[in-house]
Amino acid sequence: MKEKLNAILAAAISDAKNINSIDELQDFRVKYLGRKGELTSAMKLMGKLPKEKRPAMGQVANEVRSAVEKLFNDKDVELKENALKEKLASEQIDVTLPAGELTCGTLHPLTKTLNDIVEIFIGMGFSVAEGPEVDTVYNNFDALNSPADHPSRSESDTFYITDHLLLRTQTSPVQVRTMKQTKPPIKIISPGRCFRKDEVDATHSPMFHQIEGLVVDKNITLADLKGTLNAFVKQIFGSHVKTKFRPHYFPFTEPSAEMDVSCFKCGGDGCKFCKHTGWIEILGCGLTHPHVLEECGIDSEEYSAFAFGMGLDRITMLKYEIDDLRLIFENDARFLKQF
Ligand code: DAH
Repeated sequence: MKEKLNAILAAAISDAKNINSIDELQDFRVKYLGRKGELTSAMKLMGKLPKEKRPAMGQVANEVRSAVEKLFNDKDVELKENALKEKLASEQIDVTLPAGELTCGTLHPLTKTLNDIVEIFIGMGFSVAEGPEVDTVYNNFDALNSPADHPSRSESDTFYITDHLLLRTQTSPVQVRTMKQTKPPIKIISPGRCFRKDEVDATHSPMFHQIEGLVVDKNITLADLKGTLNAFVKQIFGSHVKTKFRPHYFPFTEPSAEMDVSCFKCGGDGCKFCKHTGWIEILGCGLTHPHVLEECGIDSEEYSAFAFGMGLDRITMLKYEIDDLRLIFENDARFLKQF
């Protein structure tokens, strides 16, 4: 029996030397230490020994078992250490290698213009309000005093979702939302996307951007409107730029006007840029119609208001001399990299 145990140990020592993987180590464990392994089988023979020989043999058997277990554990540690060394070697980073070139994007010209405009109005005490792109027909038209037969309401101009919901055609519904939610004084601008059924060409897109403005307070007059917009224009286009207000019609303002700026390219003499008129139209504005104030729960005897709405895409095109609106939305990196 003793010889058998020693032979098992000798075999285990020699097997252990050839183990190179965790799988082989597992096989080793099963072969020698497992329930059906060689040591277990040898131990079973113990019962056949005369009683007085058993303790001495038991001790030898335990020593062999401990020795085989140590072989197993040492090999386990060795394999794990080797695996770690290999991993570290294969993942070594050469910090002296030159770094790959990082391509860094730029802000889209629309975002730059928007940031500039928002900053100017924040400087004048406005805050930024947001409204949803899907809004109610009521907010987009009815509450804004738009007559039921106004052409802009037709199916051929507006994307309707249901009889009551649409893709907003303008940012003006944010005026309604704000006035219904907040008490005056109100001083907000609201940038965002708008949608109309327009064919795509150099100056039209079914999706475009506007920035709305609204100021509600006691004693608001046309002078406040003109003063605010003049200050804005001088900051965004340059201090030499002049403005001109032409009477116009919007359902939600009375009086209403369109505002032109003197051509900042030719200084007003007339050039291709301003179609030889010396002026460039940039926004619609007016004093908020009392019907709109009352509809939104504001007493039009106590409060008055002015509002304006401008096309962000158009202002961006003017500022950066982009002559085709499609370039703004195509997102060709070669175009965008210029800004
Ligand atoms: N919503 C108008 C449009 O899309 C622009 C506009 C004009 C907005 C006058 C206003 C305003 O707030 O007072 O054409």
